[in-house]
Amino acid sequence: MSRTALLIAGLLAAPFLLAGCGDDEPTLVIYNGQHEQLLDELAPTFTDETGIKVEIRSGDDLGLSNQLVQEGSKSPADVFLTENSPAMAQVEQAGLLQKLPQDVVSPIPAPYRPAGRSWTGFVARSTVLVYNKAEIKPSQLPTSLLDLADPEWKGKISFSPTGADFQAIVAAMIDLEGEAATKTWLEGLKANGTTYDGNNVVLEEVNSGESEVGIIYHYYWYRDQAESGDNSDNSALYFFGHQDPGAFVSVSGAGVLASSDMKSEAEQFVSFLTHEEGQQALADSYALEYPLNPAVHLAPPVKPFDSLQPPKVNVSDLDATLVVDLLTQVGFL
Ligand SMILES: [Fe+2]
Repeated sequence: MSRTALLIAGLLAAPFLLAGCGDDEPTLVIYNGQHEQLLDELAPTFTDETGIKVEIRSGDDLGLSNQLVQEGSKSPADVFLTENSPAMAQVEQAGLLQKLPQDVVSPIPAPYRPAGRSWTGFVARSTVLVYNKAEIKPSQLPTSLLDLADPEWKGKISFSPTGADFQAIVAAMIDLEGEAATKTWLEGLKANGTTYDGNNVVLEEVNSGESEVGIIYHYYWYRDQAESGDNSDNSALYFFGHQDPGAFVSVSGAGVLASSDMKSEAEQFVSFLTHEEGQQALADSYALEYPLNPAVHLAPPVKPFDSLQPPKVNVSDLDATLVVDLLTQVGFL
């Protein structure tokens, strides 16, 4: 998130804080790494249903996970929501999460939550390659995300290594291919690519023809199509499939802090996110991210979730620290 956006988020949060002082109603504090707009759409539905007030403090995944680790048992946070799972795994490994009840996590299929119930996925995003239709023919598209490190892609790729989305893809690559192969791949990308701050910028650069292909998540393109097509009409999405690292499906995580003094309400919030009503609200929102509850589906034209053929990744194994180390070594951070 930009400095300005943080400032605005802070100003928006201020009235909540003031309102909270005036009455005795306890307020659930949510540290939110997911896109802010999604929570702005979902949280009022939860409050209407339950009467539980929420205060959303948004930031980026690693900023918030580092803050939680620093705050430890003194954290004011009750719920932690991440955009991608590596930041959640970091907080899990620090022992800061409360084990969730079975009925809170059971609506979510097992591959999208850790077996120990320390947190759960609640929405998913697919890695994709966006390509400029005038510059690249479908027959020229790579078989694997790994191929983009080859010299033939020099000067043609763009991506956003400072964002939690790209960092989750790197975490999956480490899990699937190992640290050494991931470093080699990143060095190839460094030699071939142009980096931008944010996936929306990558989308724009590919659409304008500045870049031939870009590594993003599916929803950036679909959202732009749903809004105007201004930044996506000249481009198309390529889904790698075949369990390729490029078909990695990343989950946004939800967890309850062990230090929370509102654990029951915090569990209700996570339960809202995993059960049909919250999942339907997710599906109906602007987000176009995949609901994980099998009872709920995104409407076309979004490529169906069960057709993605993602590689098998253990969500708890995705390591944020290792990703930051590698990106720093290669010179992206
Ligand atoms: Fe994103």
